[in-house]
Amino acid sequence: MTENNLTTKEKVLAALAESGGDVSGETLAAKLGISRTAVWKAVQTLTAEGAPIETVPRRGYRLKKQEAAYLHETRIQKHLTKEAAETFTLRVEDALPSTNTVLKQMAGEGAPGGIVLIAREQTAGKGRLGRSFLSPAGSGLYMSLLLRPTLPVDQALRITTAAAVAVSEAIEQVRPGSAAKIKWVNDIYMNERKVCGILTEAGMDLETGLLAYAVLGIGINLLPPPGGFPPEIADIAGSVFAPDGGEADGNLLAAEILNRLARMLCDPCSADLLERYRGRSLLDGREILVRRCTMGDSTEIPAVALGIDENAGLRVRYPDGTEESLSSGEVVQTSVHLKKA
Ligand code: BTN
Repeated sequence: MTENNLTTKEKVLAALAESGGDVSGETLAAKLGISRTAVWKAVQTLTAEGAPIETVPRRGYRLKKQEAAYLHETRIQKHLTKEAAETFTLRVEDALPSTNTVLKQMAGEGAPGGIVLIAREQTAGKGRLGRSFLSPAGSGLYMSLLLRPTLPVDQALRITTAAAVAVSEAIEQVRPGSAAKIKWVNDIYMNERKVCGILTEAGMDLETGLLAYAVLGIGINLLPPPGGFPPEIADIAGSVFAPDGGEADGNLLAAEILNRLARMLCDPCSADLLERYRGRSLLDGREILVRRCTMGDSTEIPAVALGIDENAGLRVRYPDGTEESLSSGEVVQTSVHLKKA
């Protein structure tokens, strides 16, 4: 959305987001060329809608500190490289069922590549293998990118691997001293806890065998949800930032991911990218369970993860000494779980 298309309340929110501190009603009014009453009305509406705005006596307004994770186009755009700004068009919505579902529909209707759709909350967030992805307001970055790469369908996995590298490197950039590892194929872990999942959904051009589009969905836990993670995932889920949220900046993280993706997606199959993926592989050398589901039947087979092969598949060795490369593109669904000690 361009500056000119913004409504008054969106302009007020953008100006507050940009300033990062206190801004008086007078300053906002002068900056936006509107009356102080119009500013006041916009703030009332925004607050009623749940925007995290504080009124500071005698100083004006500001976005609440712990809401540094509050996502906004302007706050992301200001950290984008020229390349990323030229590659992507950002749209941030308060709540959507699923950014992947909405973008897939837009892709089917002919929307161009490069659209980045972010929701501050998802009411029906999707994970891989038909699972749901918890996406509460105020604690996560739920982002999907519509891509139209010239890529054979059997290389679609490389979009996920590029995204995993981009997210891991971006996390370490915004949280210096932290370590982000990739659990093949699509999860990012910090301190042995999952902080991010990636879901790439693709449509195929039947005539060329190339991807018609890919929707790359990235879901990141920025902070634990209010009240903590639900019991079903409390043992494995973590967040990028500490619970007090003092240093959380989801906008910077979103921009750092997009900056990397703008570059990486020019050549998602590059040898360099694969090396960076391998260097972060969490499973190498670990005992794992390979779960296969065929026609509703599920079996779990113990194996040792050997590493990532040249096609970004997971090389495993079974107890009888046989080896195999797993690929998420197999007809048989395969998922890998860390074996509980
Ligand atoms: C997984 O962990 O299995 C993948 C999770 C992917 C979640 C993201 S959030 C943005 C996008 N929209 C969705 O509904 N899912 C992806």
